[in-house]
Amino acid sequence: MSMNMWSQNASLSGGTLSLAGISAAQLAKEFGTPTFFLDEGAYRARALAWHNGLQSEFGPQAGTIYYAAKSFICTAVAQWISEIGIGIDVCTGGELAVALAGGINPAKIEVHGNNKSVAEIDRAVSIGVKTIVMDSLFEIERVAAAARKHGVRQGVMLRLTPGIEAHTHEKISTAHEDVKFGFSIASGAAWQAVQAVAEHPELELRGVHCHIGSQIFGVEAHKIATDRLLAFMGKYRDSYGAQLPELDLGGGFGIAYIDGEVTVEPSDVLPAIGAAVRAACAKYSLDIPVISLEPGRNIVGPTMFTLYEVGTVKDVVLDGGTVRKYVSVDGGMSENARTALYDAEYTAVIAQRASAAPHVLARLVGKHCETGDIIIANIQLPSDIAPGDLIATPATGAYGRSMASNYNHVPRPPVVAVKDGKARVIVRRENEADLLALDVKE
Ligand code: LLP
Repeated sequence: MSMNMWSQNASLSGGTLSLAGISAAQLAKEFGTPTFFLDEGAYRARALAWHNGLQSEFGPQAGTIYYAAKSFICTAVAQWISEIGIGIDVCTGGELAVALAGGINPAKIEVHGNNKSVAEIDRAVSIGVKTIVMDSLFEIERVAAAARKHGVRQGVMLRLTPGIEAHTHEKISTAHEDVKFGFSIASGAAWQAVQAVAEHPELELRGVHCHIGSQIFGVEAHKIATDRLLAFMGKYRDSYGAQLPELDLGGGFGIAYIDGEVTVEPSDVLPAIGAAVRAACAKYSLDIPVISLEPGRNIVGPTMFTLYEVGTVKDVVLDGGTVRKYVSVDGGMSENARTALYDAEYTAVIAQRASAAPHVLARLVGKHCETGDIIIANIQLPSDIAPGDLIATPATGAYGRSMASNYNHVPRPPVVAVKDGKARVIVRRENEADLLALDVKE
């Protein structure tokens, strides 16, 4: 197996998986399973690489790396973000609350969401977040009302849909026309939004934004989006006589989940984005605006693996006589919903021992009461896999724990940060009391 989908401080040798010097067996003994283990050094390095990459590509025009909180956030990670000095993109009041609990300066917070509540808007304006990204005409009125109420001029951006079919799963592609997000450039809705913002002196239009989708490889889609957004900024300058200062190109940079895939590194894409920005600015006679990005998956995705323990193994004979080995682990679709939702692919290894047994067709499944509770539909695993084996699935950092549920009243797993031979819980495991905490007894 290549190490492409493992984090920088993970190693696999002689059948033993280790993270920052601690073996999987030791981690399982200390923290139990299932657990998300987070390579803290890798997280910090990836976040910093985006920050430094943006600085070196755009110099004084480098804006902010707004880490997309939806991919994974907790108070400790928000503290790291604040130490590293990047910003954060939150899309709900809940994510905003965690960002604040971690001490992130509101001047580094960008608020997203296609249906922010009046209360969410009020809080964001009252604490002085950097920008609120407008997603509908109603919202423009609501943010203006909140700014009036608090006596401030609120920075806003417009989320635009540039009409791009990015090559990714339909449910995570966001910039074609038939979506709930943003204002379409092609239909004229985006221009209408510009005019609506201009009617409100309490709103300061800082620029335009787009997010074209998630798990995207190559730079073609980002290049087309850059051109369309800068063309729009050219039109704005022609009508209003002044240029909008900022451009935010969203996130979406892909990562390796299985053998043969390669995680996008900032240095792979930033020069091409820089070139696209410079070319479009020349074409539309614009000054280079301040450029920001919102990577989520690309920062945290590669930095975690999930460790499970095998509970049962069952050989199931398929039509034609092939045998499929069903390997059941102690988690499932409640902490990895991505396979069921997006047909996502993962890989897995036995984490605590080598095996010389031949590999056989297997399916990694969870403990939920549902046939679709599949973590990996097809995988080759050693035929001697048995109850008690530890199984690790790499690259589960993004949209794993953050999309975890309590389906079947399964407690959600903890997140354990590992760095330089030390491991500590940053999100504790849920327990039975947590599961009952919201119930009201009659
Ligand atoms: N910015 C905006 C406005 C977004 O909507 C998103 C993701 C991001 C940034 C971050 O995208 P990333 O860099 O992480 O690809 N649950 C799905 C992914 C949904 C992404 C939604 N928006 C999954 O598990 O694949």
